[in-house]
Amino acid sequence: MSFKTEINRRRTFGIISHPDAGKTTLTEKLLLFGGAIQEAGAVKSNKIKKGATSDFMEIERQRGISVATSVLAFEYEGIKINILDTPGHKDFAEDTFRTLTAVDSVIVVIDVAKGVEEQTEKLVKVCRMRNIPMIVFINKLDREGKDAFDLLDEVEQKLGLQVVPLSFPIGMGYDFKGIYNLWEKNINLFSGDSRKNIEETVEISDLKSDDLHKLVGSKAAKTLQDEVELVEGIYPEFNKEAYLLGQQQPVFFGSALNNFGVRELLDCFIEIAPKPRPKQSEERLVQPDEKDFTGFVFKIHANMDPNHRDRLAFIKIVSGTFERNKPYLHVRNNKKMKFSSPNAFFAEKKEIVDISYPGDIVGLHDTGNFKIGDTLTEGETIHYKGIPSFSPEHFRYINNADPLKSKQLYKGIDQLMDEGVAQLFTLELNGRRVIGTVGALQYEVIQYRLEHEYGAKCTYENLNVHKACWVEAKDVKSDEYKEFLRVKQRFLAKDKQDQLVFLADSPFSLQMTQEKYPNITFHLTSEF
Ligand code: G4P
Repeated sequence: MSFKTEINRRRTFGIISHPDAGKTTLTEKLLLFGGAIQEAGAVKSNKIKKGATSDFMEIERQRGISVATSVLAFEYEGIKINILDTPGHKDFAEDTFRTLTAVDSVIVVIDVAKGVEEQTEKLVKVCRMRNIPMIVFINKLDREGKDAFDLLDEVEQKLGLQVVPLSFPIGMGYDFKGIYNLWEKNINLFSGDSRKNIEETVEISDLKSDDLHKLVGSKAAKTLQDEVELVEGIYPEFNKEAYLLGQQQPVFFGSALNNFGVRELLDCFIEIAPKPRPKQSEERLVQPDEKDFTGFVFKIHANMDPNHRDRLAFIKIVSGTFERNKPYLHVRNNKKMKFSSPNAFFAEKKEIVDISYPGDIVGLHDTGNFKIGDTLTEGETIHYKGIPSFSPEHFRYINNADPLKSKQLYKGIDQLMDEGVAQLFTLELNGRRVIGTVGALQYEVIQYRLEHEYGAKCTYENLNVHKACWVEAKDVKSDEYKEFLRVKQRFLAKDKQDQLVFLADSPFSLQMTQEKYPNITFHLTSEF
């Protein structure tokens, strides 16, 4: 196959949802279609189960699972599909945000009964900021849920999307009869006794025909006719260009658990979802079909074996081909590196590969050379943009509990931060280190890993911080800025990139500070 054909047949995407909406179940059903797995239950959820917050073995076990499910690749109808795993647990939201820099599109899963939930809102917001094409899958139609129109309204309101239903449910819960596919103009009947099977569909070219009445009964047929008329009246026609620009989001209904509505979703996905897209670097826009390889690190995963401190760095290939044993430039370190055993990922295993194409992910063994956001090229100096840090939600001082092991502690902190486990801030006033995290769970993970991987011990001390704000001054020489630095010294810190951060202790103090220093901007993300 030619280089161009290889690029054009790749689809790299992520599935995002609030925990429990059905992301794992849907992933599994997609893999079943691809023949990548033989039976349901083969894909392990990597979510941290409720109540597992202080169970270190559980965290470790889950970490192991999430290596295995980081990338799930399979072939369907000649298309190479790469699903990138995005943890749903809110404590690992940063991980998901970073993964979203490596996808070309996403599928958003929503529980029909619960509607739009908090985590979905946050993740979709990030996708909207980046104009990532999104398809919405409304799941669990076999259960009683919200009215389809109300739910579509909610999706538009809360997520700020412009939805276009491409399928529509016939009944719901106990009365769920099936799905009318507006895309293919056919009906997929849901039957109680064959729930676990891949369904047969019935072509319906005219909703007013007797066939529909015979299939679903006259009451349901009438309702469907009215609803489809309403859908066609309210919603715009599907426009692939608008979808690709992130301006319109097609919606499918189904039940992942029952493998219902999933084939329709997948068939539409491979037809409309984008092939690998060009990516902006600080220097220029890079096209996937350029000859020379470029790629960037979006995720680093520590090895499960505490005796080997090596890690797996996940690289998204943006352009060219990545080849085994070929020297590449690590741009930040300005160093050539060769990789003898790059891993490619398949449904449940990883394998050493000789060549990978744009859209693919390779896993490289790393002994501490990589940081999240690093770029690899064939020699050109390129820095890929767009792996922002968000203000953490929790802040604690980290203290050394074993003075003899301070070197180990600092090395451990350094490496864990490079992996993106949490963020480190160093106070300007006294050099004390503050760890910021998205969830409290990370503190336990860090403590555990420092001890087991680095032989260092730490304790934490609470610190009252509301938000970390990256500081941008219009004029760093102005009196206003100098005064700000002097008056707020106690609240200032540097992040790992040496950027100045204001640690606001309350929403009120943030507001006051902003009002007092109008020429300084306080950003809640590191990318502005
Ligand atoms: P997540 O990855 O988004 O967190 O969700 P996951 O797929 O693990 O699904 C969460 C729960 O919802 C699971 O039940 C799963 O079986 C159920 N589920 C997924 N899709 C459907 C559907 O279409 N209909 C119905 N009725 N349920 C669905 P659980 O009891 O929490 O887990 P398990 O013990 O079944 O694994």
